[in-house]
Amino acid sequence: MDNKSRNLEEEFQARIDAGENIEAKDWMPEKYRKTHIRQISQHAHSEVVGMLPEGNWITRAPSLRRKVALLAKVQDEAGHGLYLYSAAETLGISRDELMEQLNSGKAKYSSIFNYPSLTWADMGAIGWLVDGAAIINQVMLTKTSYGPYARAMVRICKEESFHQRQGYEIMLTLCNGTEAQKAMAQDALNRWWWPSLMMFGPRDEESPHTEQSMKWKIKRKTNDELRQQFIDQTVPQADLLGLTIPDKDLKWNDERGSYDFGPIDWEEFWNVVKGNGLCNRKRLKARNEAWDNGKWVRDAAVAYAEKQAERKVSKAG
Ligand code: 3HC
Repeated sequence: MDNKSRNLEEEFQARIDAGENIEAKDWMPEKYRKTHIRQISQHAHSEVVGMLPEGNWITRAPSLRRKVALLAKVQDEAGHGLYLYSAAETLGISRDELMEQLNSGKAKYSSIFNYPSLTWADMGAIGWLVDGAAIINQVMLTKTSYGPYARAMVRICKEESFHQRQGYEIMLTLCNGTEAQKAMAQDALNRWWWPSLMMFGPRDEESPHTEQSMKWKIKRKTNDELRQQFIDQTVPQADLLGLTIPDKDLKWNDERGSYDFGPIDWEEFWNVVKGNGLCNRKRLKARNEAWDNGKWVRDAAVAYAEKQAERKVSKAG
């Protein structure tokens, strides 16, 4: 590396260490830019694919009130996706490239969305656990060093809190209902608990990105720290519901001031990440169908913009 690049890198790291936000127009190491395109785009893809398991239940919600809340949540996720695609575009990648990466199966999105939503209680468990886990990660990201990403997170976190509360309230209603309803809530917890822990990514020692991401303050806490925070926060919530966390090794550790927990099935995790989960193919097919069915909207928007531009030119002429 020549002296000029070394100085640029040192100045950049000094800005990060001083807690400054990096903006789109600032100089940044190519690897910093590429890491953000990778992480922000995967985050956006997760939001958009995350609409599918819940969208599945909008027409089957048990009441109009539940339907309205679920509809609002799914619409929020679409908005989060758009927010994050826009943040990714500030780094020089186009929307078309991002969509091609998702629709071709090249891009990752959160493993959690490759599990099926089998009963109405899953809407509760997803809101409570999946959005609960997402909030823990995303609150941390409101302090990430890349300005556009951190600012997108502030708005998204406010909406995630509503998502988590409406999910927990569904679980509370079921747990205060009939035995069959409480059993449905316990079944959903059994199926969503471990995949929610996997949302935080591999163990720190197996994470190829965490060390550098901590140095660049992309991450302010590691995968394991966030996972532990989620467990410590969620176990008392399950107690309040009268539900049992499906982990026989879960035990409060006074010394650590945290819960000890059982082994995560990392083989299952990597299997799902590699595309062999229960719903990977179904999710990708749904995304491609949505893309194809939405072509007429994109074409109409482009035609309208071109017309507007022509009108502007003829007015100016
Ligand atoms: N699902 C799929 N892939 C995952 C994963 C998961 N749960 N966890 C990690 N990976 C992938 C990483 O993308 C990386 O692969 P890559 O190099 O090909 O990109 C590899 O596994 C190694 O993992 P690392 O931990 O080293 O990777 P990161 O440093 O990127 O950390 C992360 C992973 C913690 C998920 C981080 O990317 C992150 O914080 N992302 C932003 C938050 C996010 O994407 N959350 C997803 C859920 S969004 C959501 O739930 C929406 C809500 O509204 C419901």
